[in-house]
Amino acid sequence: MNFNIAVLGGDGIGPEVTGEAVRVLQVLAQKRGHTFTFEFGAIGGNAIDDYGSALPAATLKLAKASDAVLLGAVGGPKWDDPKAKTRPEDGLLAIRKELGLFANLRPVKVHPALINASPLKPSVLQGVDLVVVRELTGGLYFGKPKKRWSTSRGRRGVDTLAYSEKEIRRVLHVGFSLAKGRKKKLTSVDKANVLETSRLWREMATEIAAEYPDVTLEHMLVDTAAMQLVRAPSRFDVMVTENTFGDILTDEAAVLAGSMGLLPSASMAGVPQIGKRSKGLYEPIHGSAPDIAGKGIANPLATILSTALMLRYSLNLEAEAHIIEEAVGKVVSDGYRTPDIAAPGEKTIGTREMGDLVANLL
Ligand code: IPM
Ligand code: MG
Repeated sequence: MNFNIAVLGGDGIGPEVTGEAVRVLQVLAQKRGHTFTFEFGAIGGNAIDDYGSALPAATLKLAKASDAVLLGAVGGPKWDDPKAKTRPEDGLLAIRKELGLFANLRPVKVHPALINASPLKPSVLQGVDLVVVRELTGGLYFGKPKKRWSTSRGRRGVDTLAYSEKEIRRVLHVGFSLAKGRKKKLTSVDKANVLETSRLWREMATEIAAEYPDVTLEHMLVDTAAMQLVRAPSRFDVMVTENTFGDILTDEAAVLAGSMGLLPSASMAGVPQIGKRSKGLYEPIHGSAPDIAGKGIANPLATILSTALMLRYSLNLEAEAHIIEEAVGKVVSDGYRTPDIAAPGEKTIGTREMGDLVANLL
């Protein structure tokens, strides 16, 4: 089969890690008789420098015309001026919004060989296998008004937390559908003791649960969820939550896996279904890591694992997705480590070697 894949490396380590993912996909395509056509576009800080926009029109056009989008990371100290009119992160937010990617899936699994890479006790990490479904195009990130201004009594700032029924319903369906295909347990995370949007969210979750009689729904307040994620993470199967809560909880959840360098994500415009092709954007959950950019030591596994999600959800190539996940699992079991997942004193390898090792196992 022929597929067009847009590759948006972005800033910092983004181009390094997407570079390895592309090489892995190329080897896979050759082995399995597919043709992947890669087209590259600018996004983030470098796009601001070169085109004056964090999401140039050409990049958006490319993304819209592709079967799937692979993204690295955006941002860096160079573009951190709080007074700047546009920021690298605007590119990421805009592409999510423009492509209608309202559901962000962030699976978290603990590889047995990496149980010591996490600061948490091995007993806590036993059996962790969860997915966070984060709402991605609403809430505080996009709500209006959103501004800063000066008053006679000092400066003020406002962000708006708003959700419509439609926005909540569609992401809850993603949560329920995923749970249905897994352990049939959905945790809806909110702050219903304080926030109106959360009270609406909770009410709707309870209503929609009637459509999924085989899924057990529980409601959990976000502060409790933050605690349970490090206290008893294996109790979770699928978690569904609004944008900001999901952003925070998934960085926390990354600690379970040992490193941000291991966690992939898929951003979807509908309920992802195995056996169907849906448009999606795939990116590691880590950022651009400017401190290690250009050093060739970034961990490409989160991005490589993101391509597995791409194969599964956007290209309907489940067998190929599995091959990549198996290869990554094997490389980790065999003891290969980039610095982020190495124990003190353990021998480490670089970005490119890690990519080669995975590619050689396909
Ligand atoms: C993420 C990131 C982004 C977000 C930033 C870079 C805008 O933290 O994908 O989790 O907050 O969504
Ligand atoms: Mg984040």
